[in-house]
Amino acid sequence: MSPTPSQSLELALESGPFSLSTEAAYRRWRARKLSRYPKSLEDQRVSIAALGRLTGSERGKIVGACRRANFALYQTDPGVPPDMDALRAFGEQLGLRHFDRHLWAPEQGIAALRREVESGRAKYLPYTDRPMKWHTDGYYNTTDDAVRGVIMHCVVQAAEGGANWLLDPEIVYIAIRDENPAYIEALMQPDVMTIPENTLEPGVYRPAVSGPVFSVDPADGALHMRYTARTRSISWKNDPITRDAVAFLDSLLAPPVRFAFCVRLNAGEGIVCNNVLHSREAFIDDAATKQQRLLWRARYRDRIVGTGPLSDRDLK
Ligand SMILES: [Fe+2]
Repeated sequence: MSPTPSQSLELALESGPFSLSTEAAYRRWRARKLSRYPKSLEDQRVSIAALGRLTGSERGKIVGACRRANFALYQTDPGVPPDMDALRAFGEQLGLRHFDRHLWAPEQGIAALRREVESGRAKYLPYTDRPMKWHTDGYYNTTDDAVRGVIMHCVVQAAEGGANWLLDPEIVYIAIRDENPAYIEALMQPDVMTIPENTLEPGVYRPAVSGPVFSVDPADGALHMRYTARTRSISWKNDPITRDAVAFLDSLLAPPVRFAFCVRLNAGEGIVCNNVLHSREAFIDDAATKQQRLLWRARYRDRIVGTGPLSDRDLK
């Protein structure tokens, strides 16, 4: 009798590349991952004629790039006026449908990130011109409502600075597991990283959230990473193996970061990704020309369709 879909999935999770008990599956996946990993950012660049109406070929290139490194850099005509509806349709064509409803997410799901001075948001780093350390989005979400997909679309580039660095979490997983599989075990503990409650705003309260750094989505076998390099407002489980694992992870993210890519998005360009690790350099707006960096950001509960490890068996 053939297994039911849920039995197949359970089997795939137990014997999949991210199970610590199956070294052979990990080795096979690792070899394939490293052999396909992009050599340069150019390998990940996809030109798109109309953001809201992807052609089959454009869609295939984005999915292919995300299978290689969990992100694609897309490029649209900078002469076409930015359009949130088109951006939403772009996400939908890639399986990104369920928006993350975070503290400042607007009704329509897409946040406009720019330097703010007077609003309540000015307290939050994304709404400043300051640098942001390595993180994945939504590290203060629980595993159940994890942010798995992100689009960052540049509407206006800063006058100076504002580059993003990107790093595929699967590469970080490989580096850590190769160093010491016990570090992976430590980072998969459900209480390894805790974000304290948010009491910044009166009337806006978020309880403390604990969760793993690495987890495997039971729905599709995909690896998820939850991380921030911030040292304030975060507490790590206080045991020797966790301390060593976190120190090793931090060391991987100290420059120069192997396998990371730097991109300074121009107007009309964007990143679509399975919530890869990213950082942001500081930027400067130009008051004289009113050139203010503006990035539209959409966060989703979904991954980009067809990019999980279980879909790899379809790859030829
Ligand atoms: Fe972010």
